[in-house]
Amino acid sequence: MSQDSGLRNTSIVGLQWGDEGKGKFVDVLAAEHDVVVRFNGGANAGHTIVVEGERLAMHLMPSAVLNPNCELVIANGTVIDPEILVAEIDMVESRGLKLNGRLHLSSRAHVVLPWHALLDGAAEARLSNLGDAIGTTKRGIGPAYADKIGRSMAVRLGDLLDTAYLKAHLNKITPLRQEELRIAGNNETVGADDIANRLIALGERLKPFITDTTWLLHDRVREGRSILFEGANACLLDVDHGTYPFVTSSNSSALGISPGTGLPAKSLGKVVGVMKAYSTRVGGGPFPTELSDAIGDRIRERGREYGTTTGRPRRCGWIDLVAVRYAAMVCGVDALAITLLDVLSGFDELQICTAYQTPSGETIRRFPVDARDLEHCVPVYETHPGWVEEIDGCEKLSELPNACRSYLEILQNHLDLPVEFVSIGPDRKQTIRLTPSSACMNEACCTQA
Ligand code: IMP
Repeated sequence: MSQDSGLRNTSIVGLQWGDEGKGKFVDVLAAEHDVVVRFNGGANAGHTIVVEGERLAMHLMPSAVLNPNCELVIANGTVIDPEILVAEIDMVESRGLKLNGRLHLSSRAHVVLPWHALLDGAAEARLSNLGDAIGTTKRGIGPAYADKIGRSMAVRLGDLLDTAYLKAHLNKITPLRQEELRIAGNNETVGADDIANRLIALGERLKPFITDTTWLLHDRVREGRSILFEGANACLLDVDHGTYPFVTSSNSSALGISPGTGLPAKSLGKVVGVMKAYSTRVGGGPFPTELSDAIGDRIRERGREYGTTTGRPRRCGWIDLVAVRYAAMVCGVDALAITLLDVLSGFDELQICTAYQTPSGETIRRFPVDARDLEHCVPVYETHPGWVEEIDGCEKLSELPNACRSYLEILQNHLDLPVEFVSIGPDRKQTIRLTPSSACMNEACCTQA
């Protein structure tokens, strides 16, 4: 039996609607862990790592890929598009980094097949005509997870290595899929043989990496190794706990870690919740603090708020502490990492949403997670003075302007959680780490930070 109290482990999850900058913290904290594990989502996620000025955009590969001492696991809870994964492996190996023996892919992860993206696109087109589009990444994520739950039409990564089974299975399911596509309004032909041959070739390339990652992770626990869990997407996009139906199709909160890896819930360790100093959302769905004005445009331009996966401009708005408080509760967050604080320099005033007003005039502080209720909530703001100084070169908390430190203090107090990391730029080096003794934002008592 593995005995993991989780003491050495860390879980990193997003507390908003994605793109909080989780990848940077995985990259930073990877140096303190032995194994980094992706447990949910697929190529809908996108993370950009900046190392010495070079930007690397990846979708499936764990963000710790540049740390050669870490093992990398893409666990059973993910959905893998093998074309995209092979391209990322090639990109990493062309930089001289070896992945053999270091990267492990769950044989039980589900495969995103070519028709999943077609079905995703067709469903979005239909919803769009009705004015109800989810605004998915069109990477086939929803249809792939639907097949996982439906069971009869799914292909798992391990199936790519069993060529006889794969061919027979695809021969059975392709005519049904062809019919479904036709009904969905897509007349593209999907050939079982073509798909099987391509998958078999991709399976050959992925073979050295495919294994039973549940056993592998339990082995690592028994060996006393530390594990870093890397969340993709974010808590408010969780299919069970997010703003349904404007969510992704996996458990993208910390609650997805256990089913997505095969490790017990007590293995999560310290949960670090990553949040932007403001809010963004891509795709459809309610967003109470959204700013459809020049302030929103300024945040978008300063924060380079354009999707890594789709290039779409992100919707931007003020920080929403009602939403984050809920997400931190659901994820069991122990410490906060605040990102993109540098983007807020130069505003006269900042607004902080601390409650909502409902259509009946009631003021509420509990996040109404149902999208139809949330749609009608109006944010209640506290106004906070801004700061003019650029802060991207600051190395210590004490170098931040007073107004900036008190902004952090307000977040910390409202959420009743310590801020442990402050990110003031995309580079690894632009990270201020606060020790418990330096977590006070008050200038008078933060001489160390
Ligand atoms: P899907 O995951 O492609 O099905 O998209 C469902 C919803 O989740 C859409 O609103 C997407 O924009 C959003 N989404 C999925 N992954 C991410 C992410 O990594 N960052 C931000 N939004 C995401």
